[in-house]
Amino acid sequence: MKKNNLLKVSIVMGSQSDYKTMQLTEKTLKKIGVSFETKIISAHRTPKRMFDYASKAEKNNIGVIIAGAGGSAHLPGMISALTHLPVLGVPVESKKLKGLDSLLSISQMPKGIPVGTLAIGEDGAINAALLAASIIANNSPSIKKRLKNWRAIQTKSVKKNPK
Ligand code: RP5
Repeated sequence: MKKNNLLKVSIVMGSQSDYKTMQLTEKTLKKIGVSFETKIISAHRTPKRMFDYASKAEKNNIGVIIAGAGGSAHLPGMISALTHLPVLGVPVESKKLKGLDSLLSISQMPKGIPVGTLAIGEDGAINAALLAASIIANNSPSIKKRLKNWRAIQTKSVKKNPK
């Protein structure tokens, strides 16, 4: 990789309705100063868009893909099938099953095509950003420094006494 050609994070989601959750991924990446893009791509409603996106992801300077989806959440697995890049899946909370369906769909990938699965909903959206930042930080001392600083601030913010 060229020094001034740092890889970006790509956030994708199955529907506009996922953005309420996935905007937390954006916010967290912004705080740490990691470059990203955000797109709506549905595995079942826009399969051609998904194919184009995943097959060109490496060429488009993407280092990590974060895919949020709810219900029968096949988007992260399908994207992972089309690229060797690391794919992190965020199970979005669904109306009927509170995201348990999303979690099981994303985490239970059969061997051979991995998806790194995060927690359901907001915690998963934030942790996906932190994990993606850690991966990108392997090739960026400045992102590594900002990530360590973010964690140090978090540690300091935890009170010793609940009162
Ligand atoms: C999935 O279906 C999306 O990821 C979303 O979480 C869920 C519901 O989509 P909408 O009906 O809100 O468009 O594809």
